[in-house]
Amino acid sequence: MTWTRIRILLVATAILWPSLLSCSGVFAQQSKIGNLTGQAKRGKELYGRYCVGCHGSRGDGEGENAAYLNPKPRDFTMGLFKCRSTPSGSIPLDSDLFDTVGRGIDTTGMPRWLPLTPQNRADLVAYVKTFSGRFVEEKPDKPVDIATETPVTPESIQRGSEVYQSLKCFECHGEKGRGDGPSASSLRDSKENPIVPYDFTIGTRFKCGESDRDLYRIFMTGLDGTPMPSYVNWVTPAQAWDLVHYLRTLQADYGEKSKTADHKGLIARR
Ligand code: HEC
Ligand code: HEC
Repeated sequence: MTWTRIRILLVATAILWPSLLSCSGVFAQQSKIGNLTGQAKRGKELYGRYCVGCHGSRGDGEGENAAYLNPKPRDFTMGLFKCRSTPSGSIPLDSDLFDTVGRGIDTTGMPRWLPLTPQNRADLVAYVKTFSGRFVEEKPDKPVDIATETPVTPESIQRGSEVYQSLKCFECHGEKGRGDGPSASSLRDSKENPIVPYDFTIGTRFKCGESDRDLYRIFMTGLDGTPMPSYVNWVTPAQAWDLVHYLRTLQADYGEKSKTADHKGLIARR
């Protein structure tokens, strides 16, 4: 073989190598959640049984039931996820996806997958990751820190309402948190589908959890693929807790479940 041939061969291998890698990545994709290791191969079978009807065989959210759903099932090929512990723009941790599958997404078609074992869920996470090259090319950023909660006091709630004003949450969520702010009706998600801001007064669980820490994390990380921004660079940890305490007062029906504001008799009843 001449040197030119060898050189051509080397160049060709160098060009093909990444695609070979990502191809084998599809089958080799794993997930790690605590001591659990999920395997995409096993996840594929489970996916075909439980998820394909909504998320589609190509993971593009075009399953046969998608037409009847609003919001639409997630298109996994975009690699964008709402429920993350990582900052906006980062891929989620495996454990974030694992938690989502177990928790389901309240107020949407995404069920709570209680019958699946933790191993099943870990395998599914590994398989879901094969639909986007982001999980081969990128590493998740460090999760957003959640500071220790400050005391719930009338002053904290008052400060929280000022943060709500100064950060202009009302533009989308409305003055009273009813999801009816001036921008609300014109919002679209990353697939150009109309999307509505959360209505705090209905008091349902959030899409990405229900505890005070979940609430803190949601507005600090933002919901990628939606107009809901990340506020981690705009508030101090103490202000973030003030905001949590204030947001709880908007959740009129949250009363019985509340361990913070209502617990201390601080919810403003309307
Ligand atoms: C009946 C329809 C339906 C089925 C079945 C279903 N999903 Fe979903 N899923 C949805 C919808 C709708 C959304 C988007 C909700 C939203 O954007 O608020 C979603 C979103 C998701 C997300 C994205 C979460 C995020 O943080 O953005 C993941 C991951 C997911 N589903 C995994 C699964 C897995 C795994 C299965 C099978 C075990 C499954 N889904 C089965 C409807 C479904
Ligand atoms: C540009 C519009 C916009 C602004 C400004 C905005 N949000 Fe949102 N927010 C949204 C939309 C849209 C959703 C619904 C996303 C979805 O359903 O996937 C949402 C959802 C939420 C949720 C619920 C998420 C869940 O998991 O169900 C919380 C909590 C929230 N926003 C808090 C805030 C706070 C606090 C502020 C101000 C610091 C704020 N938002 C500012 C548009 C906005």
